[in-house]
Amino acid sequence: MDAEVGGGSAPKRDAPQPFTLVIFGASGDLTHRKLIPAVYRLFQEGLLPERFAVVGFARSPKSDEAFRAELRKAVETFSRAKPAGDDDWAPFAARLHYHRGDYQNAADFQALAARLDALAAASGAPRNCLFYLATPPEMIQAITDQVRAAGLAEAGGASSPWSRIIIEKPFGRDLASARALNAHVQGAFAENQIFRIDHYLGKETVQNILVLRFANALFEPIWNHKYVDHVQITVAETVGVEGRGAYYDHAGAIRDMAQNHMMHLLCLVGMEAPNSLDSEAVRSEKVKVLKTLHLIPPTCVGDRVVRAQYAAGTLAGQPVPGYREEPAVAPDSLTETYVALKTFIDNWRWAGVPFYLRTGKRLPARITEIGIHFKPVPQVLFNAPPFGPMAPNVLTLRIQPNEGISLQFQVKRPGWGIRIESFEMDFGYAAAFGGEPPEAYERLLLDAALGDSTLFTRSDEVEAAWAFLTPILEGCAGQPITRLPAYPAGSWGPAEADALIESDGRRWTLMKRHTHRSTAKTK
Ligand code: BG6
Repeated sequence: MDAEVGGGSAPKRDAPQPFTLVIFGASGDLTHRKLIPAVYRLFQEGLLPERFAVVGFARSPKSDEAFRAELRKAVETFSRAKPAGDDDWAPFAARLHYHRGDYQNAADFQALAARLDALAAASGAPRNCLFYLATPPEMIQAITDQVRAAGLAEAGGASSPWSRIIIEKPFGRDLASARALNAHVQGAFAENQIFRIDHYLGKETVQNILVLRFANALFEPIWNHKYVDHVQITVAETVGVEGRGAYYDHAGAIRDMAQNHMMHLLCLVGMEAPNSLDSEAVRSEKVKVLKTLHLIPPTCVGDRVVRAQYAAGTLAGQPVPGYREEPAVAPDSLTETYVALKTFIDNWRWAGVPFYLRTGKRLPARITEIGIHFKPVPQVLFNAPPFGPMAPNVLTLRIQPNEGISLQFQVKRPGWGIRIESFEMDFGYAAAFGGEPPEAYERLLLDAALGDSTLFTRSDEVEAAWAFLTPILEGCAGQPITRLPAYPAGSWGPAEADALIESDGRRWTLMKRHTHRSTAKTK
């Protein structure tokens, strides 16, 4: 993590050394929608070195020219920085190259190595390589083997080039497969060369969690079981499976969202202060949270975990199909598109404080939010009749959209008598800073090029997250059901999820600045 204190100017970061970004899966959606638009933006911002190139690797035959034309279209469609015209595009296009190859074919990787050598020689730069696996997870092992066999996995040193590898989620399907995958990839690359990417960590608001907690004196003293009643983490999406049915039906919300994005949010809220901003120090504290999570054994899944599937419904006034009707989804699928669970961090700070997590697709709004719900004041004075009961204080971190932070507190409504109302003190990024923050992939690609792995998942971190979720997955797999509870698309999830939290005398809440309603509200 780079720390820039007190300034409003450009972040103080070194430029990466010359390197080539090699994208496996160069014809895919991720490359077009996220990676190349991000790289283009970094290029435009002058954050990439002069001697920088992209080599796209995929199976279909294609010329460099055709690849460039395809990527220009992608940048024009998906990038927040669009080329102004041919002259603007040309310097970037000249750095784009295409390499046809098969992931199982050693000769294709030898040819790739020769091409990377030639590119490096032509530019007079060392052959530093950043490999990006934008491929289905089944390809990870084959590609890492081939890269190593082709002599492209150098750790780097004073006189040799470096190689790093970025691996997309999902990293494994459960604890055993994640361990096996770690062992395999670590057979080719050292841990400090491996960058397991989770785009949530590239979001400004996610990075701000640590700043909020540890750059302010105010929060730390109350950030514990003495003052916090419970924590809610909501990751709500309006989208369905968006043509990704084949992948999603084998993943589900637990593997797709909870194991990665939600675990990172939970760790950042729950962790102790690291002793430095060094990547190992930060990640070690996150791992401690994961290792202290109260395990939900398979037999308790029915009580502490709610899974559900969206049924046909209406979103933004449009009818949408149910999950089982989506393309490439099994008509009798038991894959969850919604999950809610309750867990605890079993340490002194958080003893007895429930963390409620929920995520789902086809919910009424796209909202990622963390609510720190403080304990109610004693039931005397204003929290007793005739004034009370009053709403407790809630600190809400709006991760997206309408990024910001609000604090809900009580005020006296002006007038002769005493009437107490809840209001929110609000901080919004857009109003405070204007402009658009860097996209998650921009930040993360730059960090990987710089060799900074703070915002990437370490091997023990990924395994610890699976260690928590694998018993839950086992419990789910063992449930004798033919159908999951359903929620209509466009609703806030199943009644069972409400019951999960309401049985503890609490309710799901989101802040009004998300919902644009006049009060902070349930749901
Ligand atoms: C991805 C999941 O990791 O995150 C998708 O695979 C999900 O299913 C997406 O839609 C959500 O990301 P964001 O940035 O839109 O919240």
